[in-house]
Amino acid sequence: MRAVVSSCAGPLCAAARSVIPSIWRGKYFSSGNEPAENNPVTPMLRHLMYKIKSTGPITVAEYMKEVLTNPAKGYYVYRDMLGEKGDFITSPEISQIFGELLGIWFISEWMATGRSVAFQLVELGPGRGTLVGDILRVFSQLGSVLKNCDISIHLVEVSQKLSEIQALTLIEEKVPLEQNAGSPVYMKGVTKSGIPIFWYRDLQDVPKGYSFYLAHEFFDVLPVHKFQKTPQGWREVFVDVDPEVSDKLRFVLAPCATPAAAFIQHDETRDHVEVCPDAGVIIQELSQRIALTGGAALIADYGHDGTKTDTFRGFCGHKLHDVLIAPGTADLTADVDFSYLRRMAQGKVASLGPIKQQTFFKNMGIDVRLKRLHGGRHQMNACQSKTSAFPVAGFSELAWQ
Ligand SMILES: C[S@@+](CC[C@H](N)C(=O)[O-])C[C@H]1O[C@@H](n2cnc3c(N)ncnc32)[C@H](O)[C@@H]1O
Repeated sequence: MRAVVSSCAGPLCAAARSVIPSIWRGKYFSSGNEPAENNPVTPMLRHLMYKIKSTGPITVAEYMKEVLTNPAKGYYVYRDMLGEKGDFITSPEISQIFGELLGIWFISEWMATGRSVAFQLVELGPGRGTLVGDILRVFSQLGSVLKNCDISIHLVEVSQKLSEIQALTLIEEKVPLEQNAGSPVYMKGVTKSGIPIFWYRDLQDVPKGYSFYLAHEFFDVLPVHKFQKTPQGWREVFVDVDPEVSDKLRFVLAPCATPAAAFIQHDETRDHVEVCPDAGVIIQELSQRIALTGGAALIADYGHDGTKTDTFRGFCGHKLHDVLIAPGTADLTADVDFSYLRRMAQGKVASLGPIKQQTFFKNMGIDVRLKRLHGGRHQMNACQSKTSAFPVAGFSELAWQ
């Protein structure tokens, strides 16, 4: 996993919908030949088969978007997939130290940039709300430092199920949660530490103002277009119905150039690439906001710096899962191309990284925190239970008192 402190934007080529070419090469890419019993016909598979039979093969980006966030059947919309009983586990679910050190990082940025009278903490894709809960605990413990600062929390989340879990994790029960499914602000309440908290489906709806933005394992679930270099030029990978096996999908190559190829660099040397226009749009929005009203963004994710080729994969029950089998039952992800994010952020605000998470947390004093939390005897691992009874990392090292 890597982190980048990000920044600004240049104009992004328009992301037009792919033209559906008329001739398709029936070439398999990476989907395995699973036996029929391992290929259950899920409601999402039925939906996709119908869609493809009606209008033709779909891009990998469209496939990913439908499978993960379709409002009726999407993987993320109605289930809690995080944790030991789910499909994958994330760092904040493993240890409170992760969120605590990020909380310290935000406060140190706030101090370094002149202690604004107010700031918004905006998290994209907050999962179970654990990370922001750990950050808020740091804010409470550093109440004397933040006492004159007006803080609000803004969560960007498309999942109904996860937003309910976030509310349970974060809000003060005595203050009624306001809900309005039809409004851009679909929930609002007050956190256990008395801070106003708001939920949105789209970053565009978050009010502009001095803000710290956080995205942890969010960019890797955004839809990617996949391309292969051929003697005829870049050709996009699409998802089609397999004509030889019933209820099965397969990958095919488009017979001619498609619009998303505009996102590939002219001097690209790899023979397979993945591009994520949605990530570019979000980085541009973050950059414009930061340039206009101040703040910073921290992006932490699995990723590379423009070097990897085929990273699209699925996870189910903590195991790798064929991306075309039983769609809607497994998480789909592709590594984040940080070189692309940097390009999209170029010019308006400063951009740092990516650096390895290990380096970032060492710089933030994780070793000291681990010693304090576990008496120097134990290593951090996925089975440790979370506890909040210990002081927050970095306190004595930072000269704030
Ligand atoms: C892999 S989980 C990461 C959760 C959390 N950040 C963590 O580290 O535990 C991805 C999160 O992004 C949300 N999400 C996925 N696509 C989204 C989108 N297009 N807009 C907003 N949230 C999205 C999911 O519902 C989920 O909360």
